[in-house]
Amino acid sequence: MEYIRGMKRTHRCAELSVADNGKEVVLMGWVQRRRDLGALVFVTLRDRSGIIQVVFNSDTNPQLHEKALQVRSEYVLAVRGILQLRSPEAVNKNMPTGELEVIATELRILSKSETPPFHIEEDSGANEVLRLKHRYLDLRRPDLQRKLILRHKIAKIARDYYDENGFIEIETPVLGRSTPEGARDYLVPSRVHPGKFYALPQSPQLFKQLLMVSGFDRYMQITKCFRDEDLRSDRQPEFTQIDLEMSFVDVDDVININEGFIRELFRKVLDLDIPVPFRRLTFKEAMTRYGSDKPDTRFGMELVDVSDIVRGSGFKVFADAVSNGGSVRAINAKGGGTFSRKEIDALGEIVKTYKAKGLAWIVVEENGIRSPIAKFLTEDETSNLVNRLKAETGDLLLFVADKDEVVFDALGHLRLALGKKLSLIDHNVYDVLWITEFPLLERDEEENRWVARHHPFTSPMDEDIEYLDSDPGRVRAKAYDIVINGYEAGGGSIRIHDQELQQKMFNTIGFTDEQAKERFGFLLEAFRYGTPPHGGLAFGLDRLTMLLAKTDNIKDVIAFPKVQNASDLMTNAPDMVDDRQLEELQIKTVEKSE
Ligand code: AMO
Ligand code: AMP
Repeated sequence: MEYIRGMKRTHRCAELSVADNGKEVVLMGWVQRRRDLGALVFVTLRDRSGIIQVVFNSDTNPQLHEKALQVRSEYVLAVRGILQLRSPEAVNKNMPTGELEVIATELRILSKSETPPFHIEEDSGANEVLRLKHRYLDLRRPDLQRKLILRHKIAKIARDYYDENGFIEIETPVLGRSTPEGARDYLVPSRVHPGKFYALPQSPQLFKQLLMVSGFDRYMQITKCFRDEDLRSDRQPEFTQIDLEMSFVDVDDVININEGFIRELFRKVLDLDIPVPFRRLTFKEAMTRYGSDKPDTRFGMELVDVSDIVRGSGFKVFADAVSNGGSVRAINAKGGGTFSRKEIDALGEIVKTYKAKGLAWIVVEENGIRSPIAKFLTEDETSNLVNRLKAETGDLLLFVADKDEVVFDALGHLRLALGKKLSLIDHNVYDVLWITEFPLLERDEEENRWVARHHPFTSPMDEDIEYLDSDPGRVRAKAYDIVINGYEAGGGSIRIHDQELQQKMFNTIGFTDEQAKERFGFLLEAFRYGTPPHGGLAFGLDRLTMLLAKTDNIKDVIAFPKVQNASDLMTNAPDMVDDRQLEELQIKTVEKSE
């Protein structure tokens, strides 16, 4: 290992074990803690492997002991010493090196430290803004180091796995044209072409398809993607994909190879065997049962359609929703009958954030029901609802009536909130599934036209092509997402490789030939020269790492993440630039009048 001023580092702190007893070691690292006990000074030394205790004894080495008294938290030290077993009463079972200590024989202070703005410790409770401002210190914390090392490991497993399966890693440009992923682009002005802009890639989508045209057959890349969208706990403006594309394949081929990867990942990282094939749910089934296209199926509490029961109900809200083409659906929050009025109102607030107009509820009691809508329901309706929802005494039934889209979204999120509230989720289980048969198109109400749900190169399912003209909403796509514990961990599709079909797709989404040519001309031209059938998928590396690290904060798995408003608190990016730079780019900023 490293030589520093004549000292050669022999080990990392926590790499030492009982077997090394009696060895002379040289360690280098940071001071976690110094404790003075009269004749003895104890220094806990930390490096990326962990911590170990170093002992300075004034009886055997007064000079060294004196020097040890100078060190403070976060000083950087080089320590030579003899590794010893601690006496039995001094063993600390809470640390991996708790049976060991190093009796120091030499100490160098390599670097001093000011008192850090927060204490470096596992699971720090220090203010997040402060920690992100000093991210380099935050990253000294063992839990963050473990997560980033895990991320490295996942990337390594991915490269190895795909390499073993014949994939070739090829880099694609970062300065490019707008890609069809559908989020807002980050733009980069061109100095050489004033008034023109590169767009940072939202994904390498078009390039990887071109690589198939070029005959590379199996491509992979671990690559940054950029999307200017609202951040969430699982979303960053720049994130990393494990991106793949394959030729001569259909849906099952792509699914199989990637199932193999996920399986290997869980086996190598967590020593967990996830049986293949993974469960598959069609989009439609996922929506009707869980109200989500990324359902957390670690618990039940499925949505139940009660439209037929309340179709003619005296409760107008229900009857109208059905007659307007929507539906009334419900979930049974088992045992929720004990919730206070305030708690039920809070559930109502949840569904309102997903555009539901209200949340009707029924508590099933020993001798009947308690409900604000009881007076509108006939006895038959009530008993049918109770039966349909398999409700027992003490259950809380929750109803939303609206357009399907709103009903699913509202109840889907309510279900998740209740899963948490009622502790229905087993956090030791990994629930991995594929969602298939996504709709190819969705309605853009503002623009009053069909738009591609994934991107316009996604292939329709063979048996649905005939409906592209007559009933576009019913066409399903050869698209699939992989969902793990309720997170969309990856997604992809089989692409259209047939020019005629591509033309038809563009027509359906209202692209004129000129528009298609202007945006994707190079791809369409390439497709004229022999295009293999192809398809692929991209995993979110950040999200996979989150899942394997069991964190629900994406910032934990990114070394230098951005915060909610897309800024970096440490570097202060984004920031103003020199007038000279703007001039060179021929860019003028104007203040927006509110
Ligand atoms: P998609 O847009 O579904 O597909 O992205 C693939 C995966 O990338 C992850 N992801 C994100 N992770 C963190 N922050 C974000 N802002 C973010 N956006 C997406 C998700 C998602 O499943 N080109 C297609 C893939 C293909 O068709 O082959 C694509 O980009 O885990
Ligand atoms: P109201 O008669 O408007 O006071 O509503 C009676 C109950 O029905 C209240 O608990 C509302 O939250 C609920 N409610 C109102 N609109 C809807 C809706 N679209 N779906 C489900 N419940 C609703």
